[in-house]
Amino acid sequence: MGFTSADRPPMTRALWQSLGLISLATVSSLMIGLLYSKGSADSTAQDQQPIPFNHAFHAGELALDCRYCHRAAHVSPAAGVPSLQLCMGCHQNLDATTAGIKTLVDHWQRQEPVEWVRLQRLPDFVYFTHERHFARGLECTTCHGDVIRMTSTPRAATYEMGWCLSCHQQRGASRDCVTCHK
Ligand code: HEC
Ligand code: HEC
Ligand code: HEC
Ligand code: HEC
Ligand code: HEC
Repeated sequence: MGFTSADRPPMTRALWQSLGLISLATVSSLMIGLLYSKGSADSTAQDQQPIPFNHAFHAGELALDCRYCHRAAHVSPAAGVPSLQLCMGCHQNLDATTAGIKTLVDHWQRQEPVEWVRLQRLPDFVYFTHERHFARGLECTTCHGDVIRMTSTPRAATYEMGWCLSCHQQRGASRDCVTCHK
């Protein structure tokens, strides 16, 4: 079960200028990413989810654990999105009271996975893994914010380099370029 991508804006001149400052070894791996992608936090994008999924309700009111749905977060780089089957584990026994739930049930009947759109993504030239952070006891909310109050797709963190670096400094984690730019 995966995400599809939202469109990203093209790279900018400023990126190429900043590239001039770095060593060649780092540049080669960075450039590959820069040619294809730029940008992470796109807070202006409209929600484009096929079903208006509500975290505040499911993770807040129903108090479902984040990892009940994002099962891969503690064992792999990506957290992942839940399968249709997991949603239907509950919704099979509930009335379809909203248009969103009807769409969910339609997908189930056609056995067609829901194509969740991933709204925030790091550029390809950045290496990140959930597993490692999870192992150090960081909470999901430390990085993703107060998700249990968010009624649409969570977008609290900025995923900018300074954001990563300041926490790495505070918690004594590596700030070498190659830690995040392989
Ligand atoms: C009932 C299942 C469920 C639970 C529980 C749940 N999520 Fe989600 N989450 C989803 C689905 C479905 C999506 C994709 C649709 C969307 O983004 O709204 C998603 C998307 C996300 C995203 C991706 C946003 C992006 O960049 O597109 C983040 C981050 C996230 N969830 C964090 C959390 C956190 C943190 C918790 C616990 C507080 C949590 N989720 C609990 C189902 C769940
Ligand atoms: C150290 C900060 C940090 C912590 C802690 C963290 N995340 Fe993330 N999360 C990120 C970053 C950065 C991304 C973007 C990764 C990318 O684009 O490659 C992300 C992406 C996601 C996504 C969407 C892409 C994917 O990986 O499937 C989901 C869902 C998600 N996180 C859920 C969670 C959950 C659930 C937890 C707790 C178990 C958690 N995160 C803990 C920083 C964090
Ligand atoms: C633990 C049980 C459970 C799971 C798992 C679950 N739901 Fe729900 N969901 C509910 C309940 C209960 C309601 C409230 C139903 C009502 O009010 O009629 C609800 C409501 C909804 C609504 C309407 C709420 C609103 O605010 O519009 C949608 C859409 C929805 N769920 C989608 C999903 C999707 C998609 C998944 C899988 C990612 C999922 N649910 C997983 C129990 C669950
Ligand atoms: C809230 C704090 C926090 C934030 C935010 C954070 N990190 Fe980390 N990160 C840590 C800690 C603590 C470790 C050390 C884990 C360990 O020692 O096992 C770490 C370790 C890592 C490692 C593994 C380092 C190694 O030695 O192999 C990578 C890669 C990484 N972070 C990338 C990122 C990126 C990229 C971002 C931003 C998108 C980010 N981190 C944001 C706290 C954070
Ligand atoms: C802890 C992780 C981390 C470390 C360490 C790190 N970076 Fe980054 N870097 C990032 C992230 C995340 C981005 C993407 C920022 C965005 O998309 O806004 C980035 C982006 C960049 C960019 C693209 C321009 C920009 O600002 O968006 C360059 C160039 C760059 N880093 C160079 C470096 C150099 C040189 C070092 C070593 C001195 C370094 N980085 C160390 C995480 C890191």
